[in-house]
Amino acid sequence: MKAVYPGSFDPITNGHVDIINRGLKIFDPIVVAVLENPKKQPLFTTKERVDMIKTIFGQQKNVEVQSFQGLLVDFARRNRAKVIMRGLRALSDFEYEFQMALMNRKLDPEIETFFMTPTVDYSFLSSQLVKEVSYLGGCLKGLVPQTIEDRLKQKFEQNPPITLLKG
Ligand code: PNS
Repeated sequence: MKAVYPGSFDPITNGHVDIINRGLKIFDPIVVAVLENPKKQPLFTTKERVDMIKTIFGQQKNVEVQSFQGLLVDFARRNRAKVIMRGLRALSDFEYEFQMALMNRKLDPEIETFFMTPTVDYSFLSSQLVKEVSYLGGCLKGLVPQTIEDRLKQKFEQNPPITLLKG
């Protein structure tokens, strides 16, 4: 069964990678859906975020990566997917995720949201914190794939303004 795994992925972290790998035990394929949100100013462009995820999952045929705009349920329908997969790290994620799941159900009752928890080692991890740590010169070993750590360093060398940390 096909599932869509949506997110901003700015950038993808080991927490996302862990959820995708766990999801692959249940779903095939997983379509990683990278949100292109004109209102947000991400650190990485949509193309960069898509390409980084493609690099990590390489030639794995059961992981597809696409970007999307607009409603997630419309993207899921276009892809003939009946499941939206989301990670739940802690109780603090619950309210937002619950609201989104119920709104998506209202928009399309045929689509189910499926929650997964990452390994406890990544329960504190977020793209936002990863960006902050990288910007401030901290070590991200074990928290993001090496290629992402390198891309973050490059990005902050080229483009240091603190405003890039927003969102
Ligand atoms: O990684 P994020 O930023 O928590 O992901 C949020 C995402 C992309 C899942 C969410 O913002 C989304 O689905 N956006 C698409 C717009 C949409 O469908 N909104 C209504 C449903 S709540």
